[in-house]
Amino acid sequence: MTKYLDNTDPAAIQEAAFIIASGGLVAFPTETVYGLGANAMNESACKQIFEAKGRPADNPLIIHIADLDMLSTIISNSPTGKAALEKAMPLIQAFWPGPLTLIFEKSSEVNNIVSGGLSTVAVRMPDNPAALALIAASGRPIAAPSANISGSPSPTTAAHVKADLDGKISMILDGGPTTAGLESTILDLTTAVPTMLRPGHITPEMLEELLGPISLSYETALADKEAPKAPGMKYRHYAPKAKLTLVKTKRDIRLIKYIMEKATNTTENCAVLAPPEFLHKYSGLKTYSLTAENLFSALRQLDSDGITHAFIHSPKATGIGLALLNRLSKATGGNTVDLDTVLFVCTGNTCRSPMAAAVWDSAGTGCNAKSRGIAVIPNSRLSENSSKALESLGLSLTNHTPTQVTINDVEEAALVLCMTKNHATHLKSMGYPEKVFTLAEYSGVHEDVPDPYGADLRTYHNCAETIKTLIEKIIEDRKKREFNRPLA
Ligand code: TXA
Ligand code: MG
Repeated sequence: MTKYLDNTDPAAIQEAAFIIASGGLVAFPTETVYGLGANAMNESACKQIFEAKGRPADNPLIIHIADLDMLSTIISNSPTGKAALEKAMPLIQAFWPGPLTLIFEKSSEVNNIVSGGLSTVAVRMPDNPAALALIAASGRPIAAPSANISGSPSPTTAAHVKADLDGKISMILDGGPTTAGLESTILDLTTAVPTMLRPGHITPEMLEELLGPISLSYETALADKEAPKAPGMKYRHYAPKAKLTLVKTKRDIRLIKYIMEKATNTTENCAVLAPPEFLHKYSGLKTYSLTAENLFSALRQLDSDGITHAFIHSPKATGIGLALLNRLSKATGGNTVDLDTVLFVCTGNTCRSPMAAAVWDSAGTGCNAKSRGIAVIPNSRLSENSSKALESLGLSLTNHTPTQVTINDVEEAALVLCMTKNHATHLKSMGYPEKVFTLAEYSGVHEDVPDPYGADLRTYHNCAETIKTLIEKIIEDRKKREFNRPLA
Protein backbone atom coordinates (compact mmCIF):
# COMPACT_ATOMS: atom_id res chain seq x y z
CA MET A 1 0.00 0.00 0.00
CA THR A 2 1.27 3.45 -0.88
CA LYS A 3 0.34 6.17 1.61
CA TYR A 4 -0.91 9.39 0.06
CA LEU A 5 -0.29 12.45 2.27
CA ASP A 6 -0.64 16.22 1.97
CA ASN A 7 2.77 17.87 2.04
CA THR A 8 1.50 20.92 3.92
CA ASP A 9 1.05 18.68 6.98
CA PRO A 10 4.28 18.79 9.07
CA ALA A 11 3.50 15.31 10.42
CA ALA A 12 3.51 13.99 6.84
CA ILE A 13 7.01 15.42 6.28
CA GLN A 14 8.20 13.77 9.51
CA GLU A 15 6.70 10.45 8.48
CA ALA A 16 8.27 10.69 5.02
CA ALA A 17 11.67 11.55 6.53
CA PHE A 18 11.39 8.50 8.77
CA ILE A 19 10.72 6.28 5.75
CA ILE A 20 13.75 7.73 3.92
CA ALA A 21 15.97 7.27 7.00
CA SER A 22 14.78 3.67 7.28
CA GLY A 23 15.75 2.87 3.69
CA GLY A 24 12.30 3.21 2.05
CA LEU A 25 11.05 5.14 -1.00
CA VAL A 26 9.00 8.37 -0.94
CA ALA A 27 7.75 10.34 -3.93
CA PHE A 28 7.86 14.07 -3.25
CA PRO A 29 7.18 17.30 -5.13
CA THR A 30 9.95 19.53 -6.47
CA GLU A 31 9.49 22.69 -8.54
CA THR A 32 10.22 20.73 -11.75
CA VAL A 33 8.64 17.26 -11.55
CA TYR A 34 7.93 14.80 -8.73
CA GLY A 35 10.98 12.88 -7.56
CA LEU A 36 11.20 9.30 -6.27
CA GLY A 37 13.48 9.66 -3.27
CA ALA A 38 15.71 7.37 -1.23
CA ASN A 39 18.60 7.93 1.17
CA ALA A 40 21.42 8.72 -1.29
CA MET A 41 24.02 7.14 1.00
CA ASN A 42 22.14 3.83 1.34
CA GLU A 43 23.01 1.52 -1.53
CA SER A 44 20.15 -0.92 -1.11
CA ALA A 45 17.60 1.91 -0.81
CA CYS A 46 18.90 3.39 -4.06
CA LYS A 47 18.70 -0.02 -5.72
CA GLN A 48 14.98 -0.08 -4.94
CA ILE A 49 14.51 3.11 -6.95
CA PHE A 50 15.78 1.34 -10.07
CA GLU A 51 13.50 -1.64 -9.40
CA ALA A 52 10.38 0.45 -8.78
CA LYS A 53 10.92 2.52 -11.94
CA GLY A 54 12.23 -0.28 -14.16
CA ARG A 55 15.22 1.98 -14.77
CA PRO A 56 18.39 0.74 -16.55
CA ALA A 57 21.28 0.47 -14.05
CA ASP A 58 23.62 2.62 -16.16
CA ASN A 59 21.35 5.65 -15.80
CA PRO A 60 22.60 7.60 -12.74
CA LEU A 61 20.45 9.49 -10.23
CA ILE A 62 20.48 13.15 -9.20
CA ILE A 63 21.27 13.76 -5.52
CA HIS A 64 19.06 16.40 -3.90
CA ILE A 65 20.48 18.51 -1.08
CA ALA A 66 19.06 21.10 1.31
CA ASP A 67 22.28 22.96 2.18
CA LEU A 68 25.87 23.37 1.06
CA ASP A 69 27.25 21.18 3.88
CA MET A 70 25.57 18.24 2.20
CA LEU A 71 27.29 19.19 -1.07
CA SER A 72 30.75 18.88 0.48
CA THR A 73 30.10 15.26 1.49
CA ILE A 74 29.14 14.27 -2.05
CA ILE A 75 31.74 15.91 -4.26
CA SER A 76 35.45 15.16 -4.40
CA ASN A 77 37.80 17.50 -2.53
CA SER A 78 40.63 16.77 -4.97
CA PRO A 79 42.26 19.89 -6.51
CA THR A 80 40.15 19.51 -9.67
CA GLY A 81 37.03 18.93 -7.54
CA LYS A 82 37.74 22.09 -5.56
CA ALA A 83 38.39 24.10 -8.72
CA ALA A 84 35.05 22.94 -10.16
CA LEU A 85 33.25 23.99 -6.98
CA GLU A 86 34.87 27.40 -7.10
CA LYS A 87 33.74 27.75 -10.71
CA ALA A 88 30.24 26.68 -9.69
CA MET A 89 29.83 29.14 -6.80
CA PRO A 90 28.35 31.99 -8.88
CA LEU A 91 25.85 29.51 -10.37
CA ILE A 92 24.98 28.10 -6.97
CA GLN A 93 24.43 31.60 -5.60
CA ALA A 94 22.30 32.64 -8.55
CA PHE A 95 20.23 29.52 -9.19
CA TRP A 96 20.02 27.35 -6.03
CA PRO A 97 17.57 26.43 -4.81
CA GLY A 98 16.29 26.00 -8.36
CA PRO A 99 16.07 23.90 -11.52
CA LEU A 100 19.80 23.52 -12.18
CA THR A 101 21.67 20.22 -11.72
CA LEU A 102 25.46 20.41 -11.58
CA ILE A 103 27.81 17.51 -12.28
CA PHE A 104 31.00 17.21 -10.23
CA GLU A 105 33.67 14.59 -9.60
CA LYS A 106 32.13 12.40 -6.88
CA SER A 107 33.52 11.73 -3.40
CA SER A 108 34.19 8.17 -2.22
CA GLU A 109 30.99 8.42 -0.12
CA VAL A 110 28.83 8.21 -3.25
CA ASN A 111 28.09 4.62 -4.17
CA ASN A 112 28.19 3.22 -7.69
CA ILE A 113 24.46 2.52 -7.79
CA VAL A 114 23.68 6.25 -7.56
CA SER A 115 26.32 7.27 -10.09
CA GLY A 116 25.57 4.45 -12.54
CA GLY A 117 29.20 3.42 -12.31
CA LEU A 118 30.49 6.88 -13.34
CA SER A 119 33.19 8.80 -11.44
CA THR A 120 30.93 11.86 -11.40
CA VAL A 121 27.81 12.83 -9.48
CA ALA A 122 24.81 15.02 -10.33
CA VAL A 123 23.54 17.36 -7.57
CA ARG A 124 20.80 19.93 -7.18
CA MET A 125 18.97 21.90 -4.49
CA PRO A 126 15.25 21.87 -5.37
CA ASP A 127 13.17 25.04 -5.00
CA ASN A 128 10.22 23.54 -3.16
CA PRO A 129 9.61 24.01 0.58
CA ALA A 130 8.34 20.45 1.13
CA ALA A 131 11.32 18.94 -0.71
CA LEU A 132 13.78 21.04 1.30
CA ALA A 133 11.97 20.23 4.56
CA LEU A 134 12.01 16.52 3.73
CA ILE A 135 15.74 16.49 2.97
CA ALA A 136 16.51 18.50 6.11
CA ALA A 137 14.30 16.29 8.31
CA SER A 138 15.90 13.13 6.87
CA GLY A 139 19.28 14.61 7.73
CA ARG A 140 20.82 13.21 4.55
CA PRO A 141 20.92 13.89 0.83
CA ILE A 142 18.14 12.26 -1.17
CA ALA A 143 18.77 10.52 -4.49
CA ALA A 144 15.77 10.99 -6.73
CA PRO A 145 14.97 10.46 -10.39
CA SER A 146 11.61 11.57 -11.76
CA ALA A 147 8.86 9.51 -10.08
CA ASN A 148 7.52 7.77 -13.18
CA ILE A 149 7.90 4.33 -14.72
CA SER A 150 10.95 4.52 -17.02
CA GLY A 151 9.86 5.63 -20.48
CA SER A 152 6.58 7.29 -19.48
CA PRO A 153 6.11 11.08 -19.21
CA SER A 154 7.60 12.65 -16.07
CA PRO A 155 5.01 13.25 -13.32
CA THR A 156 3.91 16.81 -12.60
CA THR A 157 1.11 15.87 -10.18
CA ALA A 158 0.81 13.34 -7.34
CA ALA A 159 -1.92 11.61 -9.38
CA HIS A 160 0.62 10.96 -12.17
CA VAL A 161 2.94 9.34 -9.61
CA LYS A 162 0.08 7.25 -8.27
CA ALA A 163 -0.86 6.07 -11.76
CA ASP A 164 2.71 4.78 -12.32
CA LEU A 165 3.96 3.66 -8.90
CA ASP A 166 1.00 2.91 -6.62
CA GLY A 167 1.78 -0.14 -4.49
CA LYS A 168 5.49 -0.06 -5.38
CA ILE A 169 6.58 2.71 -2.99
CA SER A 170 5.86 3.56 0.65
CA MET A 171 4.51 7.08 0.32
CA ILE A 172 3.50 9.88 -2.04
CA LEU A 173 3.69 13.41 -0.64
CA ASP A 174 1.10 15.46 -2.52
CA GLY A 175 2.22 19.05 -3.11
CA GLY A 176 -0.19 19.86 -5.94
CA PRO A 177 0.95 20.44 -9.55
CA THR A 178 4.63 21.36 -9.97
CA THR A 179 5.34 24.87 -11.21
CA ALA A 180 8.21 24.51 -13.70
CA GLY A 181 6.90 21.36 -15.39
CA LEU A 182 10.14 20.28 -17.11
CA GLU A 183 13.13 18.64 -15.40
CA SER A 184 16.15 20.66 -14.34
CA THR A 185 18.84 21.91 -16.69
CA ILE A 186 21.92 19.67 -16.36
CA LEU A 187 25.38 21.23 -16.59
CA ASP A 188 28.54 19.10 -16.49
CA LEU A 189 31.36 20.96 -14.75
CA THR A 190 33.89 18.15 -15.16
CA THR A 191 34.60 18.92 -18.83
CA ALA A 192 37.21 21.51 -19.91
CA VAL A 193 34.38 23.69 -21.20
CA PRO A 194 31.20 23.24 -19.10
CA THR A 195 28.70 21.18 -21.07
CA MET A 196 24.92 21.41 -20.97
CA LEU A 197 23.55 17.86 -21.12
CA ARG A 198 19.86 18.64 -20.74
CA PRO A 199 18.12 21.96 -21.42
CA GLY A 200 15.59 23.37 -18.96
CA HIS A 201 14.38 26.62 -17.46
CA ILE A 202 17.96 27.75 -16.78
CA THR A 203 18.99 28.58 -20.35
CA PRO A 204 22.46 28.61 -21.95
CA GLU A 205 22.34 32.42 -21.99
CA MET A 206 21.70 32.56 -18.23
CA LEU A 207 24.63 30.23 -17.56
CA GLU A 208 27.00 31.92 -19.97
CA GLU A 209 26.40 35.28 -18.36
CA LEU A 210 28.03 33.96 -15.18
CA LEU A 211 30.37 31.33 -16.57
CA GLY A 212 31.51 32.37 -20.04
CA PRO A 213 31.09 30.05 -23.01
CA ILE A 214 29.56 26.62 -22.48
CA SER A 215 29.04 23.83 -24.98
CA LEU A 216 25.73 22.13 -25.70
CA SER A 217 25.33 18.38 -25.99
CA TYR A 218 21.72 17.31 -26.23
CA GLU A 219 19.10 16.48 -28.81
CA THR A 220 16.57 18.91 -30.08
CA ALA A 221 13.93 17.78 -32.49
CA LEU A 222 15.60 20.05 -35.04
CA ALA A 223 19.14 18.66 -35.21
CA ASP A 224 19.95 15.35 -33.61
CA LYS A 225 23.58 15.31 -34.65
CA GLU A 226 25.27 15.69 -31.26
CA ALA A 227 25.76 12.53 -29.24
CA PRO A 228 23.98 13.05 -25.91
CA LYS A 229 26.20 12.59 -22.86
CA ALA A 230 23.77 12.27 -19.95
CA PRO A 231 23.37 8.49 -19.91
CA GLY A 232 19.63 8.79 -19.42
CA MET A 233 19.14 10.86 -22.53
CA LYS A 234 19.88 7.95 -24.85
CA TYR A 235 16.68 6.16 -23.83
CA ARG A 236 13.26 6.77 -25.38
CA HIS A 237 11.30 8.89 -22.94
CA TYR A 238 8.02 10.57 -22.31
CA ALA A 239 6.23 8.35 -24.80
CA PRO A 240 2.44 8.04 -24.64
CA LYS A 241 0.66 5.25 -26.51
CA ALA A 242 -0.64 7.75 -29.05
CA LYS A 243 1.47 8.28 -32.17
CA LEU A 244 3.14 11.70 -32.11
CA THR A 245 4.19 13.77 -35.12
CA LEU A 246 6.12 16.97 -34.60
CA VAL A 247 5.55 19.42 -37.44
CA LYS A 248 7.87 22.36 -37.96
CA THR A 249 8.27 25.25 -40.36
CA LYS A 250 9.13 28.91 -40.11
CA ARG A 251 5.76 29.75 -41.66
CA ASP A 252 2.93 29.32 -39.17
CA ILE A 253 0.14 29.51 -41.76
CA ARG A 254 1.59 26.56 -43.67
CA LEU A 255 2.07 24.64 -40.44
CA ILE A 256 -1.53 25.13 -39.35
CA LYS A 257 -2.87 24.25 -42.81
CA TYR A 258 -0.80 21.04 -42.93
CA ILE A 259 -1.90 19.87 -39.48
CA MET A 260 -5.57 20.79 -40.10
CA GLU A 261 -5.57 18.75 -43.32
CA LYS A 262 -3.79 15.73 -41.87
CA ALA A 263 -5.79 15.65 -38.65
CA THR A 264 -9.13 16.07 -40.42
CA ASN A 265 -8.77 13.71 -43.39
CA THR A 266 -8.25 10.50 -41.42
CA THR A 267 -10.17 7.91 -39.48
CA GLU A 268 -7.72 8.20 -36.57
CA ASN A 269 -8.74 10.02 -33.40
CA CYS A 270 -6.48 13.06 -33.81
CA ALA A 271 -5.54 15.97 -31.58
CA VAL A 272 -3.18 18.93 -31.69
CA LEU A 273 -0.65 20.18 -29.16
CA ALA A 274 0.17 23.79 -29.93
CA PRO A 275 1.61 26.84 -28.18
CA PRO A 276 -1.28 28.69 -26.44
CA GLU A 277 -1.32 31.56 -28.93
CA PHE A 278 -2.13 29.15 -31.79
CA LEU A 279 -4.79 27.01 -30.14
CA HIS A 280 -7.71 29.01 -31.55
CA LYS A 281 -6.48 28.36 -35.10
CA TYR A 282 -7.34 24.67 -34.76
CA SER A 283 -11.08 25.03 -34.44
CA GLY A 284 -13.00 21.78 -34.63
CA LEU A 285 -10.04 19.72 -33.40
CA LYS A 286 -9.26 18.59 -29.88
CA THR A 287 -6.36 20.73 -28.65
CA TYR A 288 -3.87 20.73 -25.77
CA SER A 289 -1.78 23.67 -24.69
CA LEU A 290 1.93 23.15 -25.34
CA THR A 291 3.78 24.87 -22.51
CA ALA A 292 6.58 23.76 -20.19
CA GLU A 293 4.09 23.44 -17.32
CA ASN A 294 1.58 21.42 -19.32
CA LEU A 295 3.62 19.20 -21.69
CA PHE A 296 3.90 16.06 -19.56
CA SER A 297 0.37 16.35 -18.30
CA ALA A 298 -0.90 16.71 -21.88
CA LEU A 299 1.07 13.65 -23.04
CA ARG A 300 -0.60 11.58 -20.33
CA GLN A 301 -4.00 13.13 -21.07
CA LEU A 302 -3.80 12.05 -24.74
CA ASP A 303 -4.00 8.41 -23.71
CA SER A 304 -6.80 8.90 -21.20
CA ASP A 305 -8.75 10.80 -23.86
CA GLY A 306 -8.33 7.95 -26.34
CA ILE A 307 -6.33 10.01 -28.85
CA THR A 308 -4.48 7.77 -31.31
CA HIS A 309 -2.46 10.39 -33.22
CA ALA A 310 -1.36 13.79 -31.96
CA PHE A 311 0.18 16.45 -34.18
CA ILE A 312 2.50 18.86 -32.45
CA HIS A 313 2.81 22.45 -33.62
CA SER A 314 6.53 22.93 -33.01
CA PRO A 315 7.48 25.60 -30.49
CA LYS A 316 10.18 28.10 -31.48
CA ALA A 317 13.74 26.99 -30.76
CA THR A 318 14.54 29.80 -28.33
CA GLY A 319 14.47 30.07 -24.53
CA ILE A 320 12.34 27.37 -22.94
CA GLY A 321 11.45 26.21 -26.48
CA LEU A 322 14.84 24.43 -26.58
CA ALA A 323 13.90 22.34 -23.55
CA LEU A 324 10.44 21.62 -24.98
CA LEU A 325 11.97 20.52 -28.30
CA ASN A 326 14.43 18.27 -26.47
CA ARG A 327 11.61 16.49 -24.61
CA LEU A 328 9.52 16.35 -27.79
CA SER A 329 12.39 14.79 -29.70
CA LYS A 330 12.38 11.97 -27.11
CA ALA A 331 8.60 11.67 -26.98
CA THR A 332 8.17 11.46 -30.75
CA GLY A 333 11.12 9.11 -31.20
CA GLY A 334 12.37 11.55 -33.86
CA ASN A 335 9.15 11.51 -35.90
CA THR A 336 9.37 15.03 -37.31
CA VAL A 337 7.87 16.52 -40.45
CA ASP A 338 10.01 19.45 -41.55
CA LEU A 339 7.99 21.61 -43.95
CA ASP A 340 11.02 23.80 -44.74
CA THR A 341 12.92 20.99 -46.47
CA VAL A 342 14.38 21.41 -49.94
CA LEU A 343 13.91 18.13 -51.80
CA PHE A 344 16.46 17.24 -54.51
CA VAL A 345 15.41 14.60 -57.02
CA CYS A 346 17.30 12.60 -59.65
CA THR A 347 16.85 9.15 -61.17
CA GLY A 348 18.43 6.58 -58.85
CA ASN A 349 19.25 8.76 -55.80
CA THR A 350 22.84 7.46 -55.93
CA CYS A 351 24.72 10.41 -57.52
CA ARG A 352 23.31 13.83 -58.37
CA SER A 353 20.55 14.37 -55.80
CA PRO A 354 22.52 13.15 -52.75
CA MET A 355 25.46 15.33 -53.85
CA ALA A 356 23.09 18.30 -54.18
CA ALA A 357 21.61 17.68 -50.72
CA ALA A 358 25.09 17.50 -49.17
CA VAL A 359 26.11 20.74 -50.88
CA TRP A 360 22.90 22.48 -49.79
CA ASP A 361 23.26 21.36 -46.17
CA SER A 362 26.85 22.60 -46.04
CA ALA A 363 25.66 26.12 -46.87
CA GLY A 364 23.89 26.41 -43.50
CA THR A 365 20.75 28.15 -44.78
CA GLY A 366 18.66 26.94 -41.83
CA CYS A 367 16.59 24.77 -44.22
CA ASN A 368 17.53 21.09 -44.37
CA ALA A 369 17.89 19.22 -47.65
CA LYS A 370 16.58 15.77 -48.46
CA SER A 371 17.18 13.70 -51.63
CA ARG A 372 15.13 11.08 -53.43
CA GLY A 373 15.04 9.23 -56.79
CA ILE A 374 12.21 8.59 -59.22
CA ALA A 375 13.48 5.07 -60.19
CA VAL A 376 15.53 3.74 -57.29
CA ILE A 377 17.17 0.33 -57.67
CA PRO A 378 16.66 -1.78 -54.52
CA ASN A 379 19.78 -2.18 -52.35
CA SER A 380 21.73 0.46 -54.28
CA ARG A 381 24.20 2.75 -52.50
CA LEU A 382 25.71 6.18 -52.88
CA SER A 383 28.13 5.80 -55.81
CA GLU A 384 31.79 5.71 -54.90
CA ASN A 385 32.66 8.47 -57.34
CA SER A 386 29.98 10.71 -55.78
CA SER A 387 31.63 10.19 -52.40
CA LYS A 388 35.00 11.10 -53.86
CA ALA A 389 33.65 14.14 -55.68
CA LEU A 390 32.02 15.35 -52.44
CA GLU A 391 35.26 14.73 -50.59
CA SER A 392 37.10 17.01 -52.99
CA LEU A 393 34.57 19.72 -52.01
CA GLY A 394 35.39 19.03 -48.36
CA LEU A 395 32.04 17.28 -47.81
CA SER A 396 31.02 13.82 -46.76
CA LEU A 397 27.76 11.95 -46.73
CA THR A 398 27.43 8.99 -44.40
CA ASN A 399 24.42 6.70 -43.98
CA HIS A 400 22.78 7.61 -47.26
CA THR A 401 20.26 5.03 -48.46
CA PRO A 402 18.85 5.66 -51.95
CA THR A 403 15.09 6.10 -51.50
CA GLN A 404 12.16 6.26 -53.91
CA VAL A 405 10.32 9.59 -53.92
CA THR A 406 6.75 9.56 -52.59
CA ILE A 407 3.91 12.03 -52.79
CA ASN A 408 4.45 12.66 -49.05
CA ASP A 409 8.01 13.80 -49.72
CA VAL A 410 6.73 16.28 -52.28
CA GLU A 411 3.84 17.42 -50.10
CA GLU A 412 6.11 18.10 -47.14
CA ALA A 413 8.89 19.87 -49.05
CA ALA A 414 8.93 23.65 -49.36
CA LEU A 415 10.68 23.39 -52.69
CA VAL A 416 11.48 20.50 -55.04
CA LEU A 417 14.55 20.82 -57.27
CA CYS A 418 15.05 18.20 -60.00
CA MET A 419 18.17 17.47 -61.98
CA THR A 420 16.43 17.33 -65.39
CA LYS A 421 13.24 18.41 -67.12
CA ASN A 422 12.15 14.78 -67.29
CA HIS A 423 12.36 14.42 -63.53
CA ALA A 424 10.39 17.64 -63.10
CA THR A 425 7.69 16.54 -65.51
CA HIS A 426 7.35 13.25 -63.67
CA LEU A 427 7.11 14.94 -60.27
CA LYS A 428 4.66 17.61 -61.42
CA SER A 429 2.36 14.82 -62.54
CA MET A 430 2.42 13.44 -58.98
CA GLY A 431 0.97 16.70 -57.59
CA TYR A 432 1.99 20.10 -56.20
CA PRO A 433 3.39 21.28 -59.59
CA GLU A 434 3.74 24.84 -58.22
CA LYS A 435 6.78 23.95 -56.13
CA VAL A 436 8.60 21.69 -58.60
CA PHE A 437 11.47 23.14 -60.66
CA THR A 438 14.67 21.98 -62.28
CA LEU A 439 17.78 23.05 -60.45
CA ALA A 440 18.88 24.88 -63.59
CA GLU A 441 15.56 26.68 -64.07
CA TYR A 442 15.43 27.76 -60.41
CA SER A 443 18.96 29.11 -60.42
CA GLY A 444 18.50 30.66 -63.84
CA VAL A 445 21.96 29.74 -65.16
CA HIS A 446 22.32 26.34 -66.79
CA GLU A 447 20.58 23.52 -68.60
CA ASP A 448 19.90 20.08 -67.06
CA VAL A 449 22.50 18.55 -64.76
CA PRO A 450 23.72 15.60 -66.87
CA ASP A 451 23.76 12.12 -65.38
CA PRO A 452 27.35 11.08 -64.49
CA TYR A 453 26.23 7.51 -63.74
CA GLY A 454 28.96 5.04 -64.70
CA ALA A 455 31.33 7.77 -65.96
CA ASP A 456 34.89 8.49 -64.74
CA LEU A 457 35.79 10.42 -61.62
CA ARG A 458 36.46 13.59 -63.60
CA THR A 459 32.89 13.64 -64.86
CA TYR A 460 31.68 13.30 -61.27
CA HIS A 461 33.92 16.17 -60.18
CA ASN A 462 32.48 18.34 -62.94
CA CYS A 463 28.96 17.31 -62.00
CA ALA A 464 29.55 18.16 -58.31
CA GLU A 465 31.05 21.54 -59.32
CA THR A 466 28.04 22.32 -61.55
CA ILE A 467 25.61 21.45 -58.76
CA LYS A 468 27.59 23.58 -56.32
CA THR A 469 27.59 26.59 -58.66
CA LEU A 470 23.83 26.34 -59.20
CA ILE A 471 23.08 26.00 -55.50
CA GLU A 472 25.38 28.89 -54.57
CA LYS A 473 23.56 31.04 -57.10
CA ILE A 474 20.18 30.14 -55.59
CA ILE A 475 21.36 30.87 -52.07
CA GLU A 476 22.95 34.14 -53.15
CA ASP A 477 19.71 35.22 -54.87
CA ARG A 478 17.69 34.30 -51.78
CA LYS A 479 19.81 36.67 -49.77
CA LYS A 480 19.22 39.52 -52.22
CA ARG A 481 15.47 39.35 -52.66
CA GLU A 482 12.35 37.43 -51.83
CA PHE A 483 11.34 35.08 -54.63
CA ASN A 484 7.79 35.28 -55.82
CA ARG A 485 7.59 31.48 -55.78
CA PRO A 486 7.97 28.66 -53.26
CA LEU A 487 10.69 29.54 -50.85
CA ALA A 488 12.92 27.17 -48.99
O1 TXA B 1 14.27 18.22 -12.28
C1 TXA B 1 14.89 17.17 -12.14
O2 TXA B 1 16.10 17.08 -12.39
C2 TXA B 1 14.12 15.94 -11.62
C3 TXA B 1 13.68 16.23 -10.18
C4 TXA B 1 13.06 15.05 -9.53
O3 TXA B 1 14.79 16.70 -9.46
N1 TXA B 1 14.91 14.76 -11.69
C5 TXA B 1 15.17 14.12 -12.85
O4 TXA B 1 15.90 12.96 -12.69
O5 TXA B 1 14.83 14.52 -13.92
P1 TXA B 1 16.03 11.85 -13.85
O6 TXA B 1 16.67 10.71 -13.18
O7 TXA B 1 14.73 11.62 -14.49
O8 TXA B 1 17.05 12.47 -14.85
C6 TXA B 1 18.39 12.62 -14.46
C7 TXA B 1 19.27 12.74 -15.66
C8 TXA B 1 19.40 11.46 -16.42
O9 TXA B 1 19.35 11.74 -17.82
C9 TXA B 1 20.80 10.98 -16.03
O10 TXA B 1 21.40 10.19 -17.01
C10 TXA B 1 21.54 12.28 -15.80
O11 TXA B 1 20.58 13.09 -15.17
N2 TXA B 1 22.68 12.13 -14.89
C11 TXA B 1 22.67 11.81 -13.59
N3 TXA B 1 23.92 11.71 -13.11
C12 TXA B 1 24.76 11.98 -14.13
C13 TXA B 1 26.18 12.03 -14.29
N4 TXA B 1 26.99 11.78 -13.27
N5 TXA B 1 26.68 12.34 -15.50
C14 TXA B 1 25.86 12.60 -16.54
N6 TXA B 1 24.51 12.57 -16.46
C15 TXA B 1 23.95 12.25 -15.28
MG1 MG C 1 13.28 10.96 -15.71
